[in-house]
Amino acid sequence: MGTRSRRVSVKQVRSKLVKWDDLCMEIIDNVTPGEIRKAAKALKDGHLVAFPTETVYGLGADATNEKAVNRIYSVKGRPTDHPLIVHISSINQLGNWATDIPDYAIKLAKEFWPGPMTLILGRSNIAKDFITGSQETIGLRVPNHPVAHKLLKEFETIGGLGIAAPSANRFGQVSATSSVSTFNALGRLLGDKDLILNGGLCSVGIESTIISCVQSLPEILRPGAVTGEMIETVTPLKIYTQSKVRFPGSFINHYSPRARVFLNTSPTPGDGFLALSDVKTPEGAIRLASPKDSDEFAIILYESFRRADEMNIEKICVITPPQKGIGIAIIDRLNKSKYKN
Ligand code: TXA
Ligand code: MG
Repeated sequence: MGTRSRRVSVKQVRSKLVKWDDLCMEIIDNVTPGEIRKAAKALKDGHLVAFPTETVYGLGADATNEKAVNRIYSVKGRPTDHPLIVHISSINQLGNWATDIPDYAIKLAKEFWPGPMTLILGRSNIAKDFITGSQETIGLRVPNHPVAHKLLKEFETIGGLGIAAPSANRFGQVSATSSVSTFNALGRLLGDKDLILNGGLCSVGIESTIISCVQSLPEILRPGAVTGEMIETVTPLKIYTQSKVRFPGSFINHYSPRARVFLNTSPTPGDGFLALSDVKTPEGAIRLASPKDSDEFAIILYESFRRADEMNIEKICVITPPQKGIGIAIIDRLNKSKYKN
């Protein structure tokens, strides 16, 4: 058991019924410039730092440090052949990690970075097999959250090249969109030199759009807040299909809470219920949230799933939002999280 210099508010801890004795790593609630320096140094020293991005929280490690990256895999319980996204502070860092960058990828980066978009590009020789899952490509992203941005800048100032970070959750489970959810998902598995940086509730709430940039046209591998329509304002796009590329988001069971998720069915009394605010709660169902539009729906989706699990709800019925804009990404995640018998 390490020191417990934890600075998350006790109220947050209590509301999640976390036991103090389980605490080991440090959660930094108020991220000052000094804390950013400390977190960047922790990364450089080979420790893990979970940090907020505008999409979801990431579990970060120095992307050039094999031992640190291996710890990400063991903490997440993720198979080691599934590649990680490397986060960089700006488009200027792109050339360190990628080669053969097509013009359309530069256009996309200029338009949507910093932001909720990951580009898959040919890898340079600093992108080792332990990051790419031995694939010849590398996923790169410039996040837009101020804490992520400051951390990346500081890390680069002390000689870091990029932060590898998958979503901060156990493999197959729901991504974390707050520091408390990150703690609840992974806290027990982190060590006393590891950190969790708080940056509030993520403003997008679902993972970045992943775009493969290794063919003559870009292809969406995972839909997100940067939508097909937005991409098409910059470049023609290969039509979105379920990709053949191996990545865990395409597994059958992913983004799943413990409760069984059903789409567009009527709940029975005691079931969890999630729908846009203009849909009435069926008799006896437990309303998990009432988002007023699809953007809000994305923000509260994973937190609602976690809430249902905390309430020991066994079944969640979700009425899907319209299949347009970010609704396409929400429906993609819901289809992967839904109960398959
Ligand atoms: O919003 C996000 O993308 C968050 C934040 C933390 O940046 N990250 C995230 O990472 O969702 P992760 O590891 O949970 O999901 C990234 C997905 C995985 O399905 C991974 O297999 C895929 O991206 N991926 C990464 N590199 C790839 C590559 N070279 N080729 C194909 N897929 C790749
Ligand atoms: Mg993930």
